[in-house]
Amino acid sequence: MEWKERKVTLNKIVIYSSRYGTSAKYAHKIAEQKNYFLCSLDKIVNYTDKCDEIIFIAPIYIGKIFGFNKLIRELRQSNQVKITLIIVGIYDPQRAENNLKIEKMIIKMVEGSSFKLQSIYRLRGQLNIKKLSITHRILINALYTAAKKKGNEDLSENEKDIISAYENQKQVNDDNFNKMLKNI
Ligand SMILES: Cc1cc2nc3c(=O)[nH]c(=O)nc-3n(C[C@H](O)[C@H](O)[C@H](O)COP(=O)(O)O)c2cc1C
Repeated sequence: MEWKERKVTLNKIVIYSSRYGTSAKYAHKIAEQKNYFLCSLDKIVNYTDKCDEIIFIAPIYIGKIFGFNKLIRELRQSNQVKITLIIVGIYDPQRAENNLKIEKMIIKMVEGSSFKLQSIYRLRGQLNIKKLSITHRILINALYTAAKKKGNEDLSENEKDIISAYENQKQVNDDNFNKMLKNI
């Protein structure tokens, strides 16, 4: 429920983009616990002019942040707004090599923008195979099957994450969440 009758502060707003609901769930939890205004990326009108900071929550799909380009386009006119980015994905949020790659990409994407990228957080995502589109399901099934054919010693850390997310589909157990909540 996004339009609750409660007093919300508009100096920070939470905007989310989500295909299967994990990022939306995180966004609702953050908005509720911090009492921030909440809005889906599909529905932003001109709230971005009225706030000092946007907390943008979105999943990664094949290395790309879902909806981030759209947000950047929306913010073209919004001078000086601060952005906190929360990225959701199944790969271990603590793994430095993944984070470095993504941070490099983000810095490139925001080059020349008038907003200020303040901080980036990562949260553990979830795979709900039954909910996936056919294309996504085929891709994830292929990655999972290929990983399962390997011996444990040949698996990369990301492949282990795929197996774990595939086999524990309902678990979102993120210790980072509460730590992050204090900082945003
Ligand atoms: C086709 C596909 C590609 C994905 N690619 C990545 C990826 O590159 N890195 C990652 O950490 N997670 C990846 N994921 C996992 C999603 O980020 C994860 O399922 C997330 O919780 C989805 O969020 P949503 O429910 O808000 O859409 C991928 C998932 C799918 C289905």
